[in-house]
Amino acid sequence: MNVLLLGGGGREHAIAWRLSQSRRLSKLWSAPGNPGTAAYGENVEGVAASDLDGVVALAARVRADLVIVGPEDPLAAGVTDRLVAAGVPVFGPSLAAAQIEASKAFAKLLMASAGIATSASAAFTDADAAKAHVRVAPYRVVVKADGLTAGKGVTVCDDIVQAEAAIDAAMRDRAFGAAGARVVIEERMYGRETSAHAFTDGVTVRHMPFSCDHKPALDGDRGPNTGGMGVYSPSGWLPDATAEAIRRDVTERAVRALAEAGRTFRGVLYPGLMLTAEGPRVVEFNARFGDPETEALLPRLRSDLLDICNAVAHGRLADVPVEWDAAATVGVMLASPGYPGPYPSGAPITGVEEVDADVQVFLAGAGRDERGRLVTAGGRVLCVVARGATVAEARVRAYDNVRRIHFEGAHFRTDIAARADEPLEVGSAGMPR
Ligand code: GLY
Repeated sequence: MNVLLLGGGGREHAIAWRLSQSRRLSKLWSAPGNPGTAAYGENVEGVAASDLDGVVALAARVRADLVIVGPEDPLAAGVTDRLVAAGVPVFGPSLAAAQIEASKAFAKLLMASAGIATSASAAFTDADAAKAHVRVAPYRVVVKADGLTAGKGVTVCDDIVQAEAAIDAAMRDRAFGAAGARVVIEERMYGRETSAHAFTDGVTVRHMPFSCDHKPALDGDRGPNTGGMGVYSPSGWLPDATAEAIRRDVTERAVRALAEAGRTFRGVLYPGLMLTAEGPRVVEFNARFGDPETEALLPRLRSDLLDICNAVAHGRLADVPVEWDAAATVGVMLASPGYPGPYPSGAPITGVEEVDADVQVFLAGAGRDERGRLVTAGGRVLCVVARGATVAEARVRAYDNVRRIHFEGAHFRTDIAARADEPLEVGSAGMPR
């Protein structure tokens, strides 16, 4: 099969790596790709994943038998619908189904109608009404721009002043562009977070193991939120009964609700959850593989990823095995200095070839300079993923290998997965203000 993979981050490097192990893969094309995906096929320059005309033309040119969509932006722009209309099978939801990530207000309405537990919320297109709501809300709030903001449009607030400033930033100053035309004000939740991922063709659901992202930039969960500074899988602290409740009452319920609403979801559905004193509650739904979760999950997949993606695209997921191994994985992200703020690019990266043979280095914001050297080209530069019999063992191996890779100003968290063995202690869902 000829496969066109859209995207160019660590997630796409991990997907390309697993696709390359399929006997059914004839040729892999990536747009735009990165030096990691280039190791398994051909990168196509000049076609951004969100350039719908360019993607449709490229799929025809390379005679793609399947297009796999990595990031959320092309999904929210309707790339799946355009490709399907052109007769190309796609792994990734339609524009209508992708609203579960692209509009937080839509996701909240869907959860309310389907009985999926989440925080209290209200949506506003008027900043004064949003501020009035914040002043009387009996809990601390989270202010979210309604549309896609790569995680940046979310402000977790300690008080009313902070909440009002967040509303102004999104609605008056348009800090997140059109995504802030509407804001969703949510009750702030307290507890431990986990990510649930599942493959689905809209009928059959095959759950992946649970994983945990670490979003704040600095050790101890301090500093600004990032795209994710590290990850581990499984979430061993998650009680089996809770895991089963999430699979049944969140993921499967959402897949059914979307289908009943005429928005059949095909791809990866990924709810982010908070384990609160009242039980698991949804923080957000995502309509694609998480990043960096994918980097920790795919090394645990025993089945053929291409078979799975192809089956999803054709509505035949029930026909293929989806099996996982028992090993644990830990991924540590190396970031450019200054990230998630402004950062330099072009620093040579050394030591990637020094890592152990069974350790993966998934390149994200990395490129090649004119001499062909590997250099930094983004905020999150690469993710080092190690395996172990336990998360603790994988963690030691991950950090042992991280320290062999260098670029100027590289920073990484030193506490990824450090709390993975701590038993679950849940806070109150909504603390008083
Ligand atoms: N791990 C966060 C995300 O993929 O949105």
